[in-house]
Amino acid sequence: MQLAIIGLGRMGANMARRLVRAGHTVHVYNRSQAKTREVEKDGAKGFFSIRELIGSLKAPRIVWLMLPAGDTTGQILSQAAGFLSAGDIIIEGGNSYYKDDIRRAAEFSAKGIFYLDAGISGGIWGLKNGYATMVGGARAAFDTAEPIFKSLAPAGGYMYCGASGSGHFVKMTHNAIEYGMMESLAEGFELLRASPYGEKIDLKQVATTWNSASIVKSWLLELLINIFNDEGALEKTQGYVEDSGEARWAVKEAIDCGVSMEAITASLNKRFTSRQKDVFSSRILSALRHEFGGHMTAQEGEDVKTTSPGAGAAEHARPESRG
Ligand SMILES: NC(=O)c1ccc[n+]([C@@H]2O[C@H](COP(=O)([O-])OP(=O)(O)OC[C@H]3O[C@@H](n4cnc5c(N)ncnc54)[C@H](OP(=O)(O)O)[C@@H]3O)[C@@H](O)[C@H]2O)c1
Repeated sequence: MQLAIIGLGRMGANMARRLVRAGHTVHVYNRSQAKTREVEKDGAKGFFSIRELIGSLKAPRIVWLMLPAGDTTGQILSQAAGFLSAGDIIIEGGNSYYKDDIRRAAEFSAKGIFYLDAGISGGIWGLKNGYATMVGGARAAFDTAEPIFKSLAPAGGYMYCGASGSGHFVKMTHNAIEYGMMESLAEGFELLRASPYGEKIDLKQVATTWNSASIVKSWLLELLINIFNDEGALEKTQGYVEDSGEARWAVKEAIDCGVSMEAITASLNKRFTSRQKDVFSSRILSALRHEFGGHMTAQEGEDVKTTSPGAGAAEHARPESRG
C-alpha cells in the first residue's frame, strides 16, 4: 500500500522502515530534514514539506502522524487537513488523549475525511519485534488501512477496538498497567538490595532465574536483564522518572468510572515523588513529628537512619515526648 508518515522520531522512523521492508510504498516527512534523509536510505521516499508529501499520494490518501501528542499533533493535523479531501484517511499514532480523538474525528468526518486513532506499543524494539496496534474509528477506514496495521504488528498483534477514541483508550489503559508493572519490579529489586542478602545477591541472576519460567516472566524482566548487563548496579542512572500523561488520564478516567485503581495510582505518585528532593510536604511531616513527639528532624540527627517503622522514633524520642 502507499502511505505517508509525518514524524520520524524513535517510533515513526522505524515504523517507516518496517513498512518498507513489508513492501509498502512509504512517503515520509520530518521537521528536521536529516531524519528524512536517514529514512530515505532505507527505502522510503522523502519530502520536505507537508504540502509536497500529501501531494505525492494517490487518492484515497493515507497519512500517518507519529508526533508528540497534544498541541504539536493538533497543529500538524490542521496543516495536513488543508491538503486532504473526502475519502482520505488520517491515522493518529501518537499517544493522544482519547477525547481529543473523538473531537477530531467528528471535525474530519464533517469533511468526509476518516480519522483513526491508533495506539502503538513496541518502543524502539518495534522494528524487529513489531508493534502491538490498537485502532479506533470508522470500521470502513480500518478495513482499508488494515494491510498497514498487519505489517506493523507481529502475528495477532493488532485489533479494531471500536468507535473513535477506543484505540487510544485501550493504549492509555495499557500504559497505565505498564506503570504498575514497572513499579512492582522496581520495588521488588529494591527490597532484595536492602535485604540482609543485598550485598551478595546477584540481581541479574535473580532476574534471569525469574525470567526462565516464573509467573513474573516478562519482556520488562528481559529488559532489566539487559540493563544489569550493560549498567551493573545502575550507578550512573538518575532516579528521576518522567510520565507521559497516559497514567494521569487513566487515573482520572478510573475516578469517573468509579473504578478503584490503587496500584496504578500509587505507581504514578511514585514517579512524581522521584522528581522531588527534600519536598515541602516531607519537611512538614518531619516538623510535625518533632512537634508532637519530639522525634528528631534530619538537621538535629544527621545520622538518623530508617530501619523498621517506629524503631527510629523510639530511639530518638526526647523525654518530653507527648505523642
Ligand atoms: N517512544 C516510545 O516508546 C513510544 C511508544 C508508543 C507511542 N509513542 C508515542 O509516539 C509519538 C512519537 O514518539 P517518539 O518516541 O517517536 O517521539 P520522538 O522520538 O521525540 O520524535 C518526535 C518527532 O516529532 C517531531 N516533532 C516534535 N515537535 C514537532 C513540532 N513542533 N513540529 C513538527 N514536528 C515535531 C520531531 O521532529 P524533529 O526531528 O524535527 O525534532 C520527531 O520526528 C508520541 O506521541 C509518543 O507518545 C512513543
